[in-house]
Amino acid sequence: MCGALRTADAGKKAVLMGWVNKRRDHGNLLFIDLRDRTGVMQIVINVERGKAIHEKAGDLRNEYVIAVTGTVKLRDANTVNKNMPTGEVELVAEELRILNESKLPPFLPSDTALTNEETRLKYRYIDLRREVMQFNIELRHKVAKAIRDYLSGQGFFEIETPFMTRSTPEGARDYLVPSRVHRGHFYALPQSPQIFKQLLMIAGFDRYYQIVRCFRDEDLRADRQPEFTQLDIETSFLSQDDIMGLMEALVRHFFKEVLDTALPNPFPRMTYAEAMRRYGSDKPDLRNPLELVDVADLVKDCDFKVFAGPAKDPKGRVAALRVPGGGAMPRSQIDECTAFVARYGAKGLAYIKVNETARGRDGLQSPIIKFLSDAALTGILERTHAADGDLIFFGADSAKVVSDALGALRLKAGVELKLVAGSWQPLWVVDFPMFEWDPDARRWVAMHHPFTAPKGDDPAALRAAPGEALAKAYDMVLNGSEIGGGSVRIHRQDMQSTVFDLLGIATEEAQKKFGFLLDALKYGAPPHGGIAFGLDRLAMLMTGADSIREVIAFPKTQTAADPMTDAPTEVSEAQLRELHVRVRVPPPS
Ligand code: AMO
Ligand code: AMP
Repeated sequence: MCGALRTADAGKKAVLMGWVNKRRDHGNLLFIDLRDRTGVMQIVINVERGKAIHEKAGDLRNEYVIAVTGTVKLRDANTVNKNMPTGEVELVAEELRILNESKLPPFLPSDTALTNEETRLKYRYIDLRREVMQFNIELRHKVAKAIRDYLSGQGFFEIETPFMTRSTPEGARDYLVPSRVHRGHFYALPQSPQIFKQLLMIAGFDRYYQIVRCFRDEDLRADRQPEFTQLDIETSFLSQDDIMGLMEALVRHFFKEVLDTALPNPFPRMTYAEAMRRYGSDKPDLRNPLELVDVADLVKDCDFKVFAGPAKDPKGRVAALRVPGGGAMPRSQIDECTAFVARYGAKGLAYIKVNETARGRDGLQSPIIKFLSDAALTGILERTHAADGDLIFFGADSAKVVSDALGALRLKAGVELKLVAGSWQPLWVVDFPMFEWDPDARRWVAMHHPFTAPKGDDPAALRAAPGEALAKAYDMVLNGSEIGGGSVRIHRQDMQSTVFDLLGIATEEAQKKFGFLLDALKYGAPPHGGIAFGLDRLAMLMTGADSIREVIAFPKTQTAADPMTDAPTEVSEAQLRELHVRVRVPPPS
């Protein structure tokens, strides 16, 4: 292979095949950088070897596919290239064959400046020739292999589950597939294999995994794709601690295997409540040292209604975020931060500039200090550990808005002030609430999914106070990214029916949608639980890429389209008729 030859190979004959990465013409001497997926090798073509080969080499252009036979030779000391693994040798060509020509590509794999993503995806087969993409795809392969090796060693079976199935409630819209045979009926592509893996537990395959595609029709972001890959896992008879222990051992294994990195043992754990309180997020990036501090008790009696209102409201929150050295921020930057938090619903962003604590109230600068008592100000400075030169931001609103807004501001400030330190910070977040109240739909929704077990096992207790119930659910977070989520499942039919009922899924509807699961729970369902990791997100973090599209061979754009195949496309009238489907495109408005 092109990347394999070293000084020890000098004198050997070699046949290399690959793509012309670059060609340099020095008259009688021609140099070709020949590339394959292992790297680049310099080929030398000397006119003294014969006119024919030299002429043929003259025809070569970028991305031509060629085969070269020759002898490996040490380079002269002054031509050694220390930046290339093969930089101490070259191949002196004796025979050259052009296997295929190439049109001038829209961009070159060796280009350092990237073209726009649309063009990259349209010519993905060329984009994938780039060294970084080849590295990403190889790393992803290595992760998958390490996962399979480890889980197989732990007695897990890899079992496939159907893609043409019915909807699983993971909270997104379904992709539907019309049935030709069953008129007016549709399959749904699975949002996850959740129900099937539970059925496999009932079937007695007590350790299951699958590296599996999941389909979710949701709004896309850098870390979301309409089809993405999960490492899906389920086990029977294990406790929550057993499952978490096994799963973090798996993650440690492939980090060691693939990146030669030792992750902490055990991973730290934090409750959902603590994560929201300190970081305003259920997936905190612990590499960022900034923290939110609650101050409601200090300001609940002040004359500033913006603070006093939420401070007295049990659903409200007033929190502070200290930005070290932030006192130097000009007004324009504070305005920019105010506009930033507005995106999360914040109606304003009060602040105090801490100029000189020794001067008490006079050492502080802020439009709101006139409303705050000395005691409140002292309390705020103490609690936030503010020092001269710092800036303290405040959020006052519903707990959700404050956590979202200050949580996001914390991340932004951490990056901009270059406070994010350290390489890998894994974390378990545990003790999630069972349910979240949806004020629009006026009903409870499952925080994880409807099959997650509550911490107590009495259906009546759950019914009495659903808002207080905690779930046996756990998320694995890495550097601020949710890389996996799972739970211990409900394995008793009475509890499952209670949860469906609390979620407003009527008995009849539950029977229609999940009757097969409710039935199965009556036939000897073992206690079980599991997790699913987002393999794309893991690969993204491990390669250092900034989007999961960089670790997926053929991803979709932000609008869920593929510029190469042009999917999704219209289909013929005949095909639609056969599927009993009539398209209703609303008239242009
Ligand atoms: P959940 O919905 O949390 O759980 O998904 C598990 C993990 O999958 C990844 N993920 C995604 N990655 C890319 N694009 C997406 N659109 C996307 N959506 C989710 C995330 C997430 O942590 N059945 C349960 C798992 C279980 O309970 O065992 C489930 O699917 O990294
Ligand atoms: P106002 O009284 O609206 O002029 O606001 C005074 C200060 O409080 C300004 O700095 C606002 O940005 C800030 N502010 C207003 N509403 C909120 C809020 N809900 N949370 C935090 N700060 C706010």
